[in-house]
Amino acid sequence: MGFATDAIHAGQTPDDTTGAVIVPPYLTSTYVQEEIGKHKGYEYGRTHNLTRASMENNIAALEKGKYGIAFSSGLAATQALMNLVKSGDHIIVSDNVYGGTYRLFEMIMTNFGIKYSWVDARNPRNVEKAIRKNTKMVFIETPTNPMLNLTDISAIAEICKKHKLLSVVDNTFMSPYFQKPLTLGADIVVHSSTKYLNGHSDVIGGILLTNRAKVHEKMRFIQNAAGAVPSPFDCWLILRATKTLAVRMKQHNENAQKIAEYLTTKKYAKKVYYPGLPEHPQYDLAKKQMSGFGGMVSVDFGSTKKAYSFAKKVKVFTLAESLGGVESLVCHPASMTHASVPKKDREKMGLADSLIRLSVGIEDVEDLINDIDNAIK
Ligand SMILES: Cc1ncc(COP(=O)(O)O)c(C=O)c1O
Repeated sequence: MGFATDAIHAGQTPDDTTGAVIVPPYLTSTYVQEEIGKHKGYEYGRTHNLTRASMENNIAALEKGKYGIAFSSGLAATQALMNLVKSGDHIIVSDNVYGGTYRLFEMIMTNFGIKYSWVDARNPRNVEKAIRKNTKMVFIETPTNPMLNLTDISAIAEICKKHKLLSVVDNTFMSPYFQKPLTLGADIVVHSSTKYLNGHSDVIGGILLTNRAKVHEKMRFIQNAAGAVPSPFDCWLILRATKTLAVRMKQHNENAQKIAEYLTTKKYAKKVYYPGLPEHPQYDLAKKQMSGFGGMVSVDFGSTKKAYSFAKKVKVFTLAESLGGVESLVCHPASMTHASVPKKDREKMGLADSLIRLSVGIEDVEDLINDIDNAIK
């Protein structure tokens, strides 16, 4: 089936009792047992929930994965992944990832003896060079938040296969509509489903997708044993949202492309970052591994004062953390999403205090461009 068809139907069958076409939110913490040990396969809400399973299967189908394992946030999903390694093991991470991922790895997981190397993964050779005897995993985000750097997923997957490492891709920025890392050889995909998958800025969620039975088994165990599960209602909202993922992503992409192109014609935008611009240094890779360029645009105004003033003056764009919702957001990564990353590391990757990140929504693009123009004036 095509993507839009799967988005609407995969993982869902009408309710057996009533014939309800839409999977309901099974808001129950427990299930009746006829006698001890005799039940319908559902024992306790943390372990089993049909709304959650339907959502997991739906997103797994979209990512071309066999298994989906959902968590209460994107970071909870990433944290669960850390159970695939143990104290003394080493993980290679692309140097520009979401600030919270950096914080989780450097400020929490290192206390448990896990070691991290941060490399510029735009060049896959840097990843291969960073491999040590105790390396177990390569974790990349592509495109990165907020610099929109790309990593060649197939090249990383090949390196990981050669050295028997697990490859993980944070696919939050693209959603499976534009990029399917499992089909490019990656072992695991992670999403903050808070973002495009849900798309309406009303849920915090995360999910892992894989074709590897052993990874699935371990992550399913962790999901239950550590317990960072999403609520059935949040799962229902995400399942409702993925039905429109295809149409939303097309519009995000169309609007973002127009805004990025528009910004490049304006002197006040010192540098525009968008993988759909031919001048993006990895435009060819973007065309190769993505089927669209997404809704995220970053722009360097050349001065912190101008960046702050822009963020204050826009009216249709809302100043807020997060991204991927139908409404347009503006954010100042240095003081918001990436405040946990030390300034010298931010500067090394080009994340200046003068950088603004736009999450382009699906409003009328003329209104968005007028809003940007008015703020500048
Ligand atoms: C690329 C990326 N990955 C992971 C996360 C973490 O997700 P959550 O906020 O759902 O925990 C975020 C959050 O902004 C993100 O942007």
